[in-house]
Amino acid sequence: MNARELRTKYLEFFDTKDHRRMPSDSLVPDDPSLLFTSAGMVQFKPYFLGIAQPPHPRLSSSQKCLRTTDIEEVGNPSHLTFFEMLGNFSIGDYFKREAIAWAWEFLTDRKWLALDPDRLCVSVFETDDEAFELWRDMVGLPESRINRLGEDKNYWPANAISEGPNGPCGPCTEIFYRTVPPEQLSGNFREDDKAGRWLEIWNLVLMQFQRCSDPNDLSKDVAMLPLPKPSIDTGMGLERTARVLSELPSVYHTDTFAPIVEAIGRLAETAPYADERSTRATRVIADHLRAASFCIADGVLPQNSGRGYVLRRLIRRAVLKGQMVLGFQQPFLAEVFPAVVEALGDHYSELVERFDHIARALATEEQSFRRTLRAGTDRFYSIAGEQRPAGWVFPGEAAFELYDTFGFPLEVTRELVEQMDGSVDTSGYERALEEQRTRSKSGHGLADELFCQDQIELYTSGEAKPFTHFVGYDQLKVSARIVQVSPLPNDCGDTAELFDVALDVTPFYAEAGGQVGDTGTISCKAFELRVEDTRRAQEITWHRCSVVRSDEPLVGVPVERQRELLGSGYLFRGVTATVDAERRRHIVRNHTATHLLHAALRQVLGDHVHQAGSLVAPEYLRFDFTHHQAMTEEQIAEVERIVNRWVLQEVDVVIETQVPVAEAKARGAMALFGEKYGETVRVVQVPGFSIELCGGCHVSNTAKIGLFKIVHEGSVAGGVRRIEALTGEYAYRWAVERDRLVKDAAAKLKAGPAELGAAIERLQGEIRDLKRRLERAVQGGAAQQPAMICEVNGLPLVVQALQDVPLSSASGIADRLADQHKDAVVLVGAAGDGKVTFVAKVPEGARRHGAHAGNLVREIAAVAGGSGGGRPDFAQAGAKDPSRMNDALSTAPAVLAEQIHKEA
Ligand code: SER
Repeated sequence: MNARELRTKYLEFFDTKDHRRMPSDSLVPDDPSLLFTSAGMVQFKPYFLGIAQPPHPRLSSSQKCLRTTDIEEVGNPSHLTFFEMLGNFSIGDYFKREAIAWAWEFLTDRKWLALDPDRLCVSVFETDDEAFELWRDMVGLPESRINRLGEDKNYWPANAISEGPNGPCGPCTEIFYRTVPPEQLSGNFREDDKAGRWLEIWNLVLMQFQRCSDPNDLSKDVAMLPLPKPSIDTGMGLERTARVLSELPSVYHTDTFAPIVEAIGRLAETAPYADERSTRATRVIADHLRAASFCIADGVLPQNSGRGYVLRRLIRRAVLKGQMVLGFQQPFLAEVFPAVVEALGDHYSELVERFDHIARALATEEQSFRRTLRAGTDRFYSIAGEQRPAGWVFPGEAAFELYDTFGFPLEVTRELVEQMDGSVDTSGYERALEEQRTRSKSGHGLADELFCQDQIELYTSGEAKPFTHFVGYDQLKVSARIVQVSPLPNDCGDTAELFDVALDVTPFYAEAGGQVGDTGTISCKAFELRVEDTRRAQEITWHRCSVVRSDEPLVGVPVERQRELLGSGYLFRGVTATVDAERRRHIVRNHTATHLLHAALRQVLGDHVHQAGSLVAPEYLRFDFTHHQAMTEEQIAEVERIVNRWVLQEVDVVIETQVPVAEAKARGAMALFGEKYGETVRVVQVPGFSIELCGGCHVSNTAKIGLFKIVHEGSVAGGVRRIEALTGEYAYRWAVERDRLVKDAAAKLKAGPAELGAAIERLQGEIRDLKRRLERAVQGGAAQQPAMICEVNGLPLVVQALQDVPLSSASGIADRLADQHKDAVVLVGAAGDGKVTFVAKVPEGARRHGAHAGNLVREIAAVAGGSGGGRPDFAQAGAKDPSRMNDALSTAPAVLAEQIHKEA
């Protein structure tokens, strides 16, 4: 039976078991995170997830697959990059019993493959007793041919439990065919498997779990959630099984390869199977050419990144083998390609439909590579030189130069060197590559890692809806996948500027328990989104996003387009989700401080204090609590002092998850009134001070709060008070601002900050005094009018007494009076500030009669205990006793009379 017949028989067999035949999916899956379709189940992912309804619960297919993980093995009798996988699938319908029974029936029944049951053995997952018993009791296999193996062999994906990837998985049971006579078996199953004496032909995956964990550390907090319904995913390698059925020496002898191998042989100067080296080269060319042809048929073109790079590498490896081993000096791939169509075109019509396109793409890439090869080869020989002693080593840096400048892959250099019995200094090459990566930061497009990426990396939910695994308690940056997009529609039916994105795993805390949602970025090569807020609905965390950058417009486009670009549903787009770390640090300080505040309030005010609302934002915290009167300044200060004391005690915050609710309450954990809690709760404890049920984010040690400052205490409603407080940087900023205010104020008062109080008191005293004086001056102004006017021996004398005025005002008033009374002698007395002053003005006429200002004020001031004097026309004198001012002034007529009398 050849491969064609096997394919037909397989599908027919499962028709009899009510399976719906599904066409092979494209080699390029509808999933930007997956390079190539690598198993039959890939196209059915949405069905396993419950995201989409299968057309029928039982499905079968022959799927074209590409895996480059084993590319180095290609050339041996059984490893391929491109292969066909036959599969039967149960979407929550039949399970283990049927899967095993039908596999056995198809393999051994005379109507079907009629394989000798004695040449078959199986393996089961080490703890899967049920599968073991089904093989033994239902199928009748002797126990010696049922091998219990671990996760590495009998779990799919391999080692999924301990290492991941995340996604749907389950134990599997595999069927092996003995390729040698029984006496050649070693008896050690693993050894015989490794040596190909037992050849795996069919893998039955018993899909049961959804693995979830932090994608950055897949070994941490692993959760294995049951899938909604156990399902079946099987995979039988078409080429391998066809080889076994016809007892052929290799997969390359089957009808899906034979015409290709023959065509290569016709073109080659060396016979294909002439020796080991040309045999391997022929196989590599045949395998890579099939793979390349199907890639091109499915729309991939050679490029320097992504799928295009995988294709480029496949083509170049084939060209290299052709030129170096088989001696093809001219392009040959397009010449051999018709043989690929001959082998597979009847089943895969795309090869026929796109014949010209594929041939042209192969030829173009081969020609361009040959040019590269010529330039690189010339350079290679100039480096390698003529003299090559045995065991010579080609320098790693030169190998890197060939790669970097000529696009010469390391393996090409290695091939050339090995032909000349040398070896390449690979570690030198790696060093140079690493240095270049560090230099360019962004890395080189031709990264080898591409060759590991096309393994299945699934992420799914266990239910119809996706859910988000929150890992943000201790991680702020993770790799994640977009599993849903919920565009917010605008008036035009397009998407609005903002849209919601759900990830499989997220470091973003969604608003809950008073703690605000995180902000940050979600980015990948193609775009960067700004997360403006995060909320949780049921089990999904929604990141409200705007676009920062994008290769293609993401907003203002139809909803379907947006979903396609972002990746949603089962089109898992790989992204990096990064929380704004600085902002989160502010938030956690405020959250832990809220717990401490709560505890301190109860300590100071009493146990009647209960949380009645809270907001934990980056800038501040707000805490509402039950209490019936305003807090006194002392109480506020006391609470603040207690919290700061706890902060400075550097207490580690202890967080326990999964604590039974009753136990948590018994330990005195504070819970919220009216809040529903599950069976187990998360307990956040600052040992010795505070213990609360809380799902929020906290500092690891109280010292990280830095500083705690209450800035407001007030009422919100009857019996509910509110405190607003600051921590860390915001408390510091508050203190700095206060300091600035104090310094500014002190500078205005020309005092140091420490004397501010005294300076203000002095100022206040002055103001008080001025006010009083001003009042008196106003009142006194009326009483002092008019001035006393009299005549002394025919000379007019004007005397004005001023109480409580600035002494400096006396001379101005004297001038005014002198203006009003041109011929008069003017005398003004002013009292204020505990002193008195006298000013006299004597006009010319009066002076001729003997009047003298200086003498006048001197005599008068003397009455009030003072002294002074001056010129005859104008003089001023001061005295110390304001209460004697009026007495002094009243002596003026007599003193003046005396002066005039003397003159006369
Ligand atoms: N998904 C499994 C595999 O690839 C069975 O199809 O081996």
